[in-house]
Amino acid sequence: MINPRAQHNFLGRSCSISGVGSYVPERILTNADLEKMVDTSDEWITTRTGIKERRIAAANEFTSDLAAKAAERALKMAGVTADQIDLIIVASITPDMPFPNTACLVQQKIGARRIPAFDIEAACSGFIYALEVGQNFIMSRACETVLVIGAEKLSSITNWTDRNTCVLFGDGAGAAVLQHRPDAHGLLTTVLGADGAKAGLLSMPGGGSACPASAATVADGLHFLRMDGKETFKNAVQAMCSAANEALQRCELQIDQIKCIIPHQANRRIVDAVGDRLGATPEQLFVNLHKYGNTSAASVAIALDEAVHSGKIARGDLILIVAFGAGLTWGAAVIEW
Ligand code: UT7
Repeated sequence: MINPRAQHNFLGRSCSISGVGSYVPERILTNADLEKMVDTSDEWITTRTGIKERRIAAANEFTSDLAAKAAERALKMAGVTADQIDLIIVASITPDMPFPNTACLVQQKIGARRIPAFDIEAACSGFIYALEVGQNFIMSRACETVLVIGAEKLSSITNWTDRNTCVLFGDGAGAAVLQHRPDAHGLLTTVLGADGAKAGLLSMPGGGSACPASAATVADGLHFLRMDGKETFKNAVQAMCSAANEALQRCELQIDQIKCIIPHQANRRIVDAVGDRLGATPEQLFVNLHKYGNTSAASVAIALDEAVHSGKIARGDLILIVAFGAGLTWGAAVIEW
C-alpha cells in the first residue's frame, strides 16, 4: 500500500494512465547495414551500446504520422474515442516543421475536436515532462482526458556519415491516455530538472533564430544532431540516478518495491549503471534498445507500452520511469499502474 504522503501531489484527484500504445516504422536498419555505410562494426555497436537494430521512417512518413498511429493504439486500449480527448501534448525534438506544432497536426490526423494542442521540447526527457504537464490538467479538473505522445523521426536530423552518432538513433512513437480513475492512485510523483549550462553537450545548432537555415549552415552540417558522447554518458548516469532516488524518497518507497523500472533507452551500459547504482535487479529493468536504439522523446513511451503489453506490468504494480536528454534535461516518475 502506498504511504499516504506519496499523495502530496494530488490537488483533489489523481491522474492515471488508462491506455498506452506505440508505433515504430516498418523499415529495420541493422548494424550490418551500418557497416556498409560508415567505418563501424556490429561488434563495436553491440559492446558499446547494446543496440542491434533501429527503425527508420519512410520519406513520406513524418513525426505526426508516427504519433497519430501510436495515439490510436493508446486510445483503443483506454476505450476512448478521439472526440473525447480534451488536450493533446506532443513531446519531440523532430517536429514535422518549426510551426505549426506537431500536436495540431496529430489533432487533425486522429480526428479530434478543436481542443488545445501543443508541443513540449525537452529532448529525451520530453515524455516525462509531458506526463507532468498533462497530469496537472487532470488534477486541476481542467480536462477529463489528455493524450500525451512522445514521437521522433530522428533519422531526419542524423548525419549518416558520422559514425559517432548515426549508429545510436531510431524513429518511433509512444502514447498514453491520462484520465482520473477513482480506483487507482496513478502518477504518484514526478521529478523534473534541467541544466542549461551543459546545453552544448547535445544539440542541433542550425535552423533556429541563433543560426537560421542558409546554404552555409547546410554545408556546415549544422542541421544534424551532434553529441559529446562521453560527457553526456557521465551526466546521464548521475542525473537519472539522482532523479530516480528523489522520486522514490518522495513516495517513501524502496527500490525493491518497484516492479518495473523503465529507463531511457540510450545505451545498455547507461541502463545497467543506473540499475546498479539504484540497487535494482536485472529483472526489474525493462530494456528494448536492442530493437529500436535511442528514440529520444519516444523512448520511455514505447518501452512503457511494450512493458504493459508483454505482461511485465499489471494493474496495481509500482513502476519507475526515468529519462535524461539534451538541455540538459532529466525526469523521473513513480506510477501505481
Ligand atoms: O539520449 C540522450 C543521451 N544520450 C546518451 O546518453 C548517449 C551517451 N553516450 C554514449 O552512449 C557513449 O558515449 C557512446 C556510445 C556514444 C560512445 O561510447 P564510448 O565508450 O564513450 O566511446 P568513445 O566516444 O570514447 O569512442 C571510443 C572510440 C573512438 O576512437 P578512438 O578515438 O579511441 O580511436 C571513436 O572514434 O570509438 C570510436 N567510435 C567508433 N568506432 C566504431 C565512435 N563511434 C564508433 C562507431 N564504430 N560507430
